[in-house]
Amino acid sequence: MKDFLWWRDGVIYQIYPRSFSDSSNDGIGDLQGIIEKLDYLQALGIDAIWLSPINPSPDVDFGYDVSDYTGIDPKFGTMKDFEHLVKEAKKRDIHIIMDLVLNHTSDQHAWFLKSKQSKENAHHDFYIWKDPKPDGEPPNNWQAVFGGPAWEYDEDLGQYYYHMFFKEQPDVNWRNPEVRSAMLDVFRFWLDKGVEGFRLDVFNAYFKDPEFKDNPPKFGIRGFDRQEHIYDVSQPEMYPLLEEIRTIVDEHKQSYVVGETFLADTQQTASYCGNDKLHAAFNFDFAENRWHPQRFLDSVLKWYDALAADAWPNNFLSNHDMKRAASRYCFGEDDSRAKVALAMLLTLKGTPFLYYGEEIGMRDIPIRKRADIKDPIGKHFWPFYKGRDGCRAPMQWRNAPHAGFSLAEPWLPVNDNYTKRNVEMQLSDPNSMLNFSMKLISIRRSTPALIRGDFTPLTEQPRFILAYERQYEGDRVIVILNFSSRLLNFELPKGGWTCLLTKNTAYTGKISMAPYQVRILEKKV
Ligand code: NOJ
Repeated sequence: MKDFLWWRDGVIYQIYPRSFSDSSNDGIGDLQGIIEKLDYLQALGIDAIWLSPINPSPDVDFGYDVSDYTGIDPKFGTMKDFEHLVKEAKKRDIHIIMDLVLNHTSDQHAWFLKSKQSKENAHHDFYIWKDPKPDGEPPNNWQAVFGGPAWEYDEDLGQYYYHMFFKEQPDVNWRNPEVRSAMLDVFRFWLDKGVEGFRLDVFNAYFKDPEFKDNPPKFGIRGFDRQEHIYDVSQPEMYPLLEEIRTIVDEHKQSYVVGETFLADTQQTASYCGNDKLHAAFNFDFAENRWHPQRFLDSVLKWYDALAADAWPNNFLSNHDMKRAASRYCFGEDDSRAKVALAMLLTLKGTPFLYYGEEIGMRDIPIRKRADIKDPIGKHFWPFYKGRDGCRAPMQWRNAPHAGFSLAEPWLPVNDNYTKRNVEMQLSDPNSMLNFSMKLISIRRSTPALIRGDFTPLTEQPRFILAYERQYEGDRVIVILNFSSRLLNFELPKGGWTCLLTKNTAYTGKISMAPYQVRILEKKV
């Protein structure tokens, strides 16, 4: 396609590096492991990889607590390995997106260690320190997402510091000009290394209310949910900062920045996207839908409507923080619904994000005992919430020990279904999820209407079938997805249509839709 722009027109694939491929056989995935799988990723047809954090980290939150923004954690390899990865990826037209966790650092970051030395230390103001209230209580009522109050008392300093997540993840003070400039340098550093995109972790939490007012109460079960989060996230100061970030990123042609909004609805999320802001942000409203075509349709229409004309949508169904789509929607090992979901993701208007293993329909691993849990929030909230280990299990490559992920015992167990559900076996099965994924990605790539086309729903208030048309220049494509286990009929728009999934079949008028059938039909005008 002419003027193909990777982040807008391509498919982005999220890798959780701990779990993708382990070349050093220590049970934890690494950069060399990713390099070894680049040919696979190229054959899959993806255009970019988003790497969950690979910076040095004490792993209280598995990489989302960074102790050095310009280093590579030795468990993943070296800077040389990273440079090699960039080079090898480039050869295959695969772009690299780094995860930047700039709302907070690890409490082992040199800045924080200095910050807590004394109130006079030049780094003290790099974090959010406050005196206790006269009665010794924390400065306000803010709560931590991962449980308990968001303020941790430091005996030596006689002050509290603020942490939105774990106490080992102190929030930095973005209002301090030195912090701001050091963080902006982090973008420059990685751009110079050949990185072409960034995913910003909880960026809309960078700024807090300057007066640290109490959040108003609201109904909810646990502490964090019992507040209206109007003072701890989504402050107006974020917009000028995004403009500044965008200016830096734009100095490198075709570079990209996508943001993870936290506690933001579709409107709020969309407000951060545009020519002088983020290229894109994640729309959780879509990803969190239950299995109903109307829900998905409503979410995307709301999303398209909220985005300004200079913003391009993106869509995702799974990531490292939520139960995998296949586990949410499928019955057992039956992939019918996973295929419908994937077809929707790859044919809606918007850049699709795939989560590693989604292409083979990987399921979450079961979490049975508290003692087995690695994710600290799972330990903390057990048994009400079991954490995020389920969706972070090793990639299933082969029917071999540890699914071919590693020769050593992996850091999380491999799903028992790996003997049947793995890349190698699915490659040789024409009906597999993987062959379906590859076919869809390649159809998408060669069909401009699916990449750039306008979106028009063909079903009003759908209960069983979701159908929509994508139009671009002379191309018209319709996508028909049977969300149900019933055999149904669908009336095609006027004219003759050719099937893109099973070539050379022409259809007109009424067609039948088998349970969970996916049809993609094209008409050239
Ligand atoms: C969002 C990340 O996706 C999640 O994994 C992490 O725990 C929090 N931000 C804190 O960084």
